[in-house]
Amino acid sequence: MIQLSSIEKVYRTDSIETLALTGVNLDVDRGEFLSVMGPSGSGKSTLLNIIGLLDSPTSGNIVLAGEKVASYHDRKLAHIRNQKIGFVFQSYHLVNDLSVVDNVEIPLIYRSMSGKERRQRALAALEKVGLSARTKHFPGQLSGGQRQRVAIARAIVGEPEIILADEPTGNLDSVMGQEILAILKSLVKDMGTTIVMVTHDEPIALETDRIVRLFDGSQVN
Ligand SMILES: Nc1ncnc2c1ncn2[C@@H]1O[C@H](COP(=O)(O)OP(=O)(O)O)[C@@H](O)[C@H]1O
Ligand SMILES: [Mg+2]
Repeated sequence: MIQLSSIEKVYRTDSIETLALTGVNLDVDRGEFLSVMGPSGSGKSTLLNIIGLLDSPTSGNIVLAGEKVASYHDRKLAHIRNQKIGFVFQSYHLVNDLSVVDNVEIPLIYRSMSGKERRQRALAALEKVGLSARTKHFPGQLSGGQRQRVAIARAIVGEPEIILADEPTGNLDSVMGQEILAILKSLVKDMGTTIVMVTHDEPIALETDRIVRLFDGSQVN
Protein backbone atom coordinates (compact mmCIF):
# COMPACT_ATOMS: atom_id res chain seq x y z
CA MET A 1 0.00 0.00 0.00
CA ILE A 2 2.86 2.36 0.86
CA GLN A 3 6.32 1.95 -0.67
CA LEU A 4 9.11 4.36 0.15
CA SER A 5 12.57 3.89 -1.30
CA SER A 6 15.75 5.83 -0.51
CA ILE A 7 13.80 8.76 0.91
CA GLU A 8 15.87 11.78 1.85
CA LYS A 9 14.56 15.09 3.12
CA VAL A 10 16.75 18.14 3.57
CA TYR A 11 15.30 21.38 4.93
CA ARG A 12 17.29 24.37 3.71
CA THR A 13 17.04 27.88 5.07
CA ASP A 14 19.44 30.76 4.33
CA SER A 15 22.11 29.57 6.72
CA ILE A 16 21.12 26.13 7.98
CA GLU A 17 20.70 22.77 6.35
CA THR A 18 18.87 20.07 8.31
CA LEU A 19 18.92 16.47 7.18
CA ALA A 20 15.50 15.40 8.46
CA LEU A 21 15.41 11.96 6.79
CA THR A 22 18.02 9.85 5.04
CA GLY A 23 18.00 6.43 3.41
CA VAL A 24 14.48 5.55 4.51
CA ASN A 25 13.05 2.41 2.89
CA LEU A 26 9.65 1.26 4.00
CA ASP A 27 6.94 -1.04 2.69
CA VAL A 28 3.61 -1.03 4.47
CA ASP A 29 1.09 -3.70 3.47
CA ARG A 30 -2.61 -3.13 2.96
CA GLY A 31 -4.33 -3.56 6.30
CA GLU A 32 -1.13 -3.22 8.31
CA PHE A 33 -1.01 -1.08 11.47
CA LEU A 34 2.48 0.38 11.77
CA SER A 35 3.94 2.50 14.57
CA VAL A 36 6.76 4.97 14.09
CA MET A 37 8.80 5.75 17.20
CA GLY A 38 11.88 7.85 17.90
CA PRO A 39 13.08 10.83 19.93
CA SER A 40 11.88 14.35 19.28
CA GLY A 41 13.44 15.72 16.10
CA SER A 42 14.21 12.28 14.64
CA GLY A 43 12.05 12.87 11.56
CA LYS A 44 8.77 11.16 12.47
CA SER A 45 6.45 13.98 11.45
CA THR A 46 8.50 14.62 8.33
CA LEU A 47 8.08 10.96 7.37
CA LEU A 48 4.32 11.10 7.96
CA ASN A 49 3.97 14.34 5.99
CA ILE A 50 5.87 12.81 3.08
CA ILE A 51 3.68 9.69 3.09
CA GLY A 52 0.64 11.98 3.30
CA LEU A 53 1.77 14.06 0.32
CA LEU A 54 1.82 17.19 2.47
CA ASP A 55 5.53 17.53 1.82
CA SER A 56 7.77 16.16 -0.90
CA PRO A 57 11.08 14.35 -0.38
CA THR A 58 14.33 15.92 -1.57
CA SER A 59 15.06 12.59 -3.25
CA GLY A 60 13.70 9.07 -3.35
CA ASN A 61 10.54 7.40 -4.55
CA ILE A 62 7.03 6.98 -3.19
CA VAL A 63 4.34 4.66 -4.45
CA LEU A 64 0.93 4.89 -2.76
CA ALA A 65 -1.72 2.30 -3.63
CA GLY A 66 0.06 1.65 -6.92
CA GLU A 67 0.36 5.33 -7.84
CA LYS A 68 3.87 6.68 -8.49
CA VAL A 69 3.15 9.96 -6.84
CA ALA A 70 6.67 11.39 -7.20
CA SER A 71 5.94 12.50 -10.73
CA TYR A 72 2.50 14.02 -10.05
CA HIS A 73 1.69 17.71 -9.99
CA ASP A 74 0.03 19.48 -7.05
CA ARG A 75 -3.57 19.22 -8.17
CA LYS A 76 -3.34 15.49 -8.71
CA LEU A 77 -1.57 15.10 -5.34
CA ALA A 78 -4.35 17.04 -3.62
CA HIS A 79 -6.90 14.75 -5.26
CA ILE A 80 -5.10 11.57 -4.11
CA ARG A 81 -4.73 13.04 -0.62
CA ASN A 82 -8.45 13.76 -0.45
CA GLN A 83 -9.51 10.36 -1.81
CA LYS A 84 -7.04 7.97 -0.26
CA ILE A 85 -5.66 9.50 2.93
CA GLY A 86 -7.12 10.52 6.29
CA PHE A 87 -5.10 12.49 8.83
CA VAL A 88 -5.27 12.56 12.63
CA PHE A 89 -3.12 14.98 14.63
CA GLN A 90 -2.06 15.22 18.28
CA SER A 91 -3.95 18.50 18.82
CA TYR A 92 -7.05 17.38 16.85
CA HIS A 93 -7.07 20.35 14.39
CA LEU A 94 -10.84 20.78 14.59
CA VAL A 95 -12.57 23.98 13.49
CA ASN A 96 -13.84 25.45 16.75
CA ASP A 97 -16.78 27.41 15.37
CA LEU A 98 -18.19 24.48 13.43
CA SER A 99 -20.34 21.82 15.08
CA VAL A 100 -19.05 18.25 15.41
CA VAL A 101 -21.00 17.01 12.40
CA ASP A 102 -19.94 20.00 10.27
CA ASN A 103 -16.30 19.31 11.15
CA VAL A 104 -16.68 15.71 10.03
CA GLU A 105 -18.22 16.76 6.72
CA ILE A 106 -15.22 18.91 5.71
CA PRO A 107 -13.35 16.30 3.59
CA LEU A 108 -16.56 15.60 1.64
CA ILE A 109 -16.98 19.23 0.57
CA TYR A 110 -14.32 18.61 -2.09
CA ARG A 111 -16.30 15.73 -3.55
CA SER A 112 -19.34 16.01 -5.73
CA MET A 113 -22.02 14.88 -3.30
CA SER A 114 -25.32 16.28 -2.12
CA GLY A 115 -25.57 17.99 1.25
CA LYS A 116 -27.90 15.24 2.40
CA GLU A 117 -25.45 12.48 1.51
CA ARG A 118 -22.61 14.40 3.20
CA ARG A 119 -24.67 14.61 6.36
CA GLN A 120 -25.58 10.90 6.29
CA ARG A 121 -21.97 9.86 5.85
CA ALA A 122 -20.78 12.20 8.59
CA LEU A 123 -23.36 10.81 11.01
CA ALA A 124 -22.35 7.24 10.11
CA ALA A 125 -18.68 8.09 10.77
CA LEU A 126 -19.61 9.61 14.13
CA GLU A 127 -21.52 6.45 15.00
CA LYS A 128 -18.40 4.38 14.28
CA VAL A 129 -16.45 6.36 16.86
CA GLY A 130 -19.28 6.28 19.38
CA LEU A 131 -20.20 9.97 19.23
CA SER A 132 -23.76 9.86 17.93
CA ALA A 133 -24.93 11.73 21.02
CA ARG A 134 -22.61 14.71 20.41
CA THR A 135 -23.16 15.65 16.77
CA LYS A 136 -24.47 19.18 17.46
CA HIS A 137 -21.91 20.04 20.11
CA PHE A 138 -18.96 22.30 19.39
CA PRO A 139 -15.36 21.14 19.91
CA GLY A 140 -14.97 23.40 22.98
CA GLN A 141 -17.75 21.45 24.71
CA LEU A 142 -15.96 18.09 24.39
CA SER A 143 -13.23 16.29 26.32
CA GLY A 144 -9.87 15.64 24.66
CA GLY A 145 -10.75 12.03 23.95
CA GLN A 146 -14.05 13.05 22.40
CA ARG A 147 -12.33 15.68 20.24
CA GLN A 148 -9.91 13.08 18.99
CA ARG A 149 -12.82 10.79 18.16
CA VAL A 150 -14.34 13.62 16.10
CA ALA A 151 -10.99 13.99 14.33
CA ILE A 152 -10.99 10.24 13.59
CA ALA A 153 -14.54 10.45 12.25
CA ARG A 154 -13.39 13.27 9.96
CA ALA A 155 -10.40 11.18 8.87
CA ILE A 156 -12.55 8.16 7.97
CA VAL A 157 -15.62 9.88 6.53
CA GLY A 158 -14.26 9.70 2.98
CA GLU A 159 -13.37 6.01 3.44
CA PRO A 160 -9.64 6.48 2.83
CA GLU A 161 -7.41 3.46 2.35
CA ILE A 162 -4.69 5.00 4.50
CA ILE A 163 -4.87 6.73 7.88
CA LEU A 164 -1.87 8.73 9.08
CA ALA A 165 -1.88 9.65 12.75
CA ASP A 166 0.77 11.90 14.34
CA GLU A 167 0.83 11.18 18.10
CA PRO A 168 -2.97 10.78 18.25
CA THR A 169 -2.85 9.84 21.94
CA GLY A 170 -0.16 12.37 22.89
CA ASN A 171 -2.54 14.78 24.65
CA LEU A 172 -4.68 12.10 26.27
CA ASP A 173 -4.52 10.16 29.51
CA SER A 174 -3.91 6.44 29.20
CA VAL A 175 -7.58 5.44 29.42
CA MET A 176 -8.57 7.79 26.60
CA GLY A 177 -5.44 6.80 24.70
CA GLN A 178 -6.51 3.15 24.85
CA GLU A 179 -9.98 4.13 23.57
CA ILE A 180 -8.43 5.88 20.57
CA LEU A 181 -6.15 2.90 19.94
CA ALA A 182 -9.16 0.55 20.05
CA ILE A 183 -10.97 2.65 17.45
CA LEU A 184 -7.92 2.67 15.16
CA LYS A 185 -7.56 -1.11 15.54
CA SER A 186 -11.21 -1.59 14.65
CA LEU A 187 -10.68 0.36 11.40
CA VAL A 188 -7.89 -2.04 10.45
CA LYS A 189 -9.97 -5.07 11.34
CA ASP A 190 -13.35 -4.01 9.92
CA MET A 191 -12.37 -1.93 6.90
CA GLY A 192 -8.86 -3.15 6.07
CA THR A 193 -7.48 0.36 6.53
CA THR A 194 -3.71 0.78 6.49
CA ILE A 195 -2.51 2.91 9.42
CA VAL A 196 0.81 4.59 10.09
CA MET A 197 0.88 6.08 13.60
CA VAL A 198 3.63 8.12 15.21
CA THR A 199 3.70 7.55 18.96
CA HIS A 200 5.91 8.07 22.01
CA ASP A 201 3.94 5.52 23.96
CA GLU A 202 5.68 2.14 23.98
CA PRO A 203 2.70 0.13 25.37
CA ILE A 204 0.49 1.56 22.62
CA ALA A 205 3.10 0.88 19.92
CA LEU A 206 3.44 -2.71 21.13
CA GLU A 207 -0.23 -3.30 20.33
CA THR A 208 0.31 -2.49 16.64
CA ASP A 209 1.59 -4.93 13.99
CA ARG A 210 5.09 -3.49 13.65
CA ILE A 211 7.31 -0.72 15.01
CA VAL A 212 9.73 1.29 12.88
CA ARG A 213 12.25 3.35 14.84
CA LEU A 214 13.92 6.53 13.66
CA PHE A 215 17.03 8.19 15.05
CA ASP A 216 18.48 11.35 13.49
CA GLY A 217 16.49 10.74 10.32
CA SER A 218 17.56 7.13 9.84
CA GLN A 219 15.80 3.85 10.50
CA VAL A 220 17.45 1.97 13.34
CA ASN A 221 15.82 -1.45 13.33
N1 LIG B 1 9.84 23.12 8.02
C1 LIG B 1 11.04 22.85 8.51
N2 LIG B 1 12.10 23.65 8.28
C2 LIG B 1 13.32 23.36 8.77
N3 LIG B 1 13.59 22.29 9.54
C3 LIG B 1 12.58 21.46 9.83
C4 LIG B 1 11.25 21.69 9.35
N4 LIG B 1 10.45 20.69 9.80
C5 LIG B 1 11.24 19.88 10.53
N5 LIG B 1 12.52 20.34 10.55
C6 LIG B 1 13.66 19.68 11.23
O1 LIG B 1 13.73 18.35 10.77
C7 LIG B 1 14.04 17.46 11.85
C8 LIG B 1 12.93 16.41 12.00
O2 LIG B 1 11.73 17.07 12.43
P1 LIG B 1 10.37 16.29 12.70
O3 LIG B 1 10.08 15.42 11.53
O4 LIG B 1 9.34 17.31 13.05
O5 LIG B 1 10.75 15.39 13.95
P2 LIG B 1 9.82 14.60 14.98
O6 LIG B 1 8.43 14.59 14.46
O7 LIG B 1 10.44 13.23 15.08
O8 LIG B 1 9.94 15.33 16.29
C9 LIG B 1 14.21 18.34 13.08
O9 LIG B 1 15.59 18.59 13.23
C10 LIG B 1 13.47 19.59 12.73
O10 LIG B 1 14.00 20.68 13.39
MG1 LIG C 1 6.64 15.29 15.32
